[in-house]
Amino acid sequence: MSAQEVVICNQLENDLQKAVMKSEPDKVFVLTDEHTHLFCFPVIGKYPFLKEAVEICIGVEDIHKNLETLAYVWTQLSTKGATRHSLLINLGGGMVTDLGGFAAATFKRGIAMINIPTTLLGMVDASVGGKTGINFNGLKNEVGVFAPADSVLIDCEFLKSLDHENLLSGYAEMLKHGLISNTQHWSGLVGFDMNHIDYIRLQQLVAESIAVKEQIVGQDPFEKGIRKALNFGHTVGHAFESFAMEKGHPILHGYAVAAGMVCELYFSHLRMGFPKDKLRQTIRFIKENYGRVAFTCEDYERLYAFMCHDKKNNVEGQVNFTLISEVGDIHINQVASQDDVYDMLDFYSETMG
Ligand code: GLY
Repeated sequence: MSAQEVVICNQLENDLQKAVMKSEPDKVFVLTDEHTHLFCFPVIGKYPFLKEAVEICIGVEDIHKNLETLAYVWTQLSTKGATRHSLLINLGGGMVTDLGGFAAATFKRGIAMINIPTTLLGMVDASVGGKTGINFNGLKNEVGVFAPADSVLIDCEFLKSLDHENLLSGYAEMLKHGLISNTQHWSGLVGFDMNHIDYIRLQQLVAESIAVKEQIVGQDPFEKGIRKALNFGHTVGHAFESFAMEKGHPILHGYAVAAGMVCELYFSHLRMGFPKDKLRQTIRFIKENYGRVAFTCEDYERLYAFMCHDKKNNVEGQVNFTLISEVGDIHINQVASQDDVYDMLDFYSETMG
């Protein structure tokens, strides 16, 4: 898989113009959703080099990440004159970059693509690393391809209009990158004041966070080994996310991952000796900012069932975890018994109040 260029923007207009010129497109398309159409397209749509660009707008949120929307994007590209030499700019959160990335990777066997993520989750996770796809047959990200964007442009100005919950949701993936990388980065993250955001400092942390992801993806682009480190917190996190959805009170991905990290850090401490002081400090940050995911001990069986049925972490009938013995010391493919999982859930309930 080819490497992608990630640009931390000082001036989006200049950086985007350079990125567009690289592919010398005959026509430029911009994929937006109903939110970025209103709030972000006006920012880039006025750049002179995009005055002929064709906007394709799709519905907002995950329910639209489906075959029907994908077919709509292909149809728009086809009927509005896209050729093999055209360029698609994906302007939005993870849903837009995942679906747009898949559309670009498959239209005429692949056209040039630029990602401009507009959410924190999109910046530090979805837009980087080449995973694209759609939900299918009731399953998340069931169909897709690895296809990195030619360029990813990060402009934290977009975050100023993001609501606090979505900012925190993306920040959970940054915390994960801190835990799997190095103490200096982790310490910067747990010391950051989420209630009085310093956007300059946030931009530095975002750049460091993306570098962590790029470094891991560079070693293992197709997730055969070390890329599984990026699943830290997600084995339990996905179970919380599915459980909350089933109960009719969906929670944002990052809130589920933050709760999952509390459980998996505790298990890392028990199984791998992850240091107690760093366990406490991380949990304090999560407790103060994310609060608690709602469940009781009567829900343990259901939560465990979600973990067992998650194709990403069920290996030969056992629930698979990524654990850490220190910040940055990663142990993939660790298994846990049902008792271990119940113990993690007990710890979460006792600690988070
Ligand atoms: N979201 C984790 C990964 O890209 O592998």
